[in-house]
Amino acid sequence: MHTITHQHELREVLHDACTSGTSIGLVPTMGNLHAGHMELVKTAKASTDCVVSTIFVNPLQFGANEDLNAYPRTLEADKNKLIALDCDFLFAPSVEDLLGAYPQQQSRIHVPGLSEGFCGSSRPGHFDGVATVVNKLINIVQPDKAFFGLKDYQQFLVIRKMVSDLALDVKIIGVETLRAESGLALSSRNNYLGAEQQQTAALIYRCLIDTAASIKAGDRDYNNLETSARDRLAGAGIKPDYFSICNAINLQAAAESESQFVILAAAYIGPSRLIDNIRFELGD
Ligand code: PAJ
Repeated sequence: MHTITHQHELREVLHDACTSGTSIGLVPTMGNLHAGHMELVKTAKASTDCVVSTIFVNPLQFGANEDLNAYPRTLEADKNKLIALDCDFLFAPSVEDLLGAYPQQQSRIHVPGLSEGFCGSSRPGHFDGVATVVNKLINIVQPDKAFFGLKDYQQFLVIRKMVSDLALDVKIIGVETLRAESGLALSSRNNYLGAEQQQTAALIYRCLIDTAASIKAGDRDYNNLETSARDRLAGAGIKPDYFSICNAINLQAAAESESQFVILAAAYIGPSRLIDNIRFELGD
């Protein structure tokens, strides 16, 4: 695996390495890689010829009171995990290389609608920062496919809309959420939790499963289902941010006759804000 830290160098190396007909897969990450990230790399390896993983803790997507400085940076361990999967390139630029000397002066991409509720409300500017950096990585790498986890479902939809609105020539592939045995979605932010807190946090997915089961069984009182789930989380010492039953395409509140559902959840446990979701369809 080649590790590259300058964008101009990556462009050159990819230009030389990828002759016409070679398909390129892009896997953007912020590092501190776990098995969930590895799933993206494995999926990319299985469907493209040359995989470029990126590690960049993107300051544009962190709010003033968030964990930018504390965010775990584990480059050497990450490299070994990528080598074990036979990843072809790692792009790990500095902030200055990717965003210039004045990151806040970067042109920004705003994706209206989809980026505004849920994590967009709780973390103002977050998705502008994500869309801006992902757009830049796509422009540098020029991949055929880019791979994103469905755990961050709103992020996945925001990126897919950005790619469609800006006519970027890349296919966005969603990869299923990898979970611990308890059901807890793997996340770098789980590292901030002790073993007992991680066990408690598994209740988030339990609530998603149980709410989905109630809807499948015919319950359409979404407000009541959302309130019950929030109360159940609060009862276990988890502070819910949102727990919302939505249409899976536009993230609007689910209609009574809804067929494509996503239930989005975000909650604070100890020092971590965790997100998760469940998607399902109902036949007529
Ligand atoms: P990060 O949180 O490092 O996640 C990188 C990718 O891994 C994202 O696409 C995310 O959805 C996926 N991922 C995380 N946990 C996963 C799990 N348990 N199962 C499957 N996939 C999982 O998301 C970001 O970084 C950033 O916002 C980024 C897209 C890199 C832009 O800066």
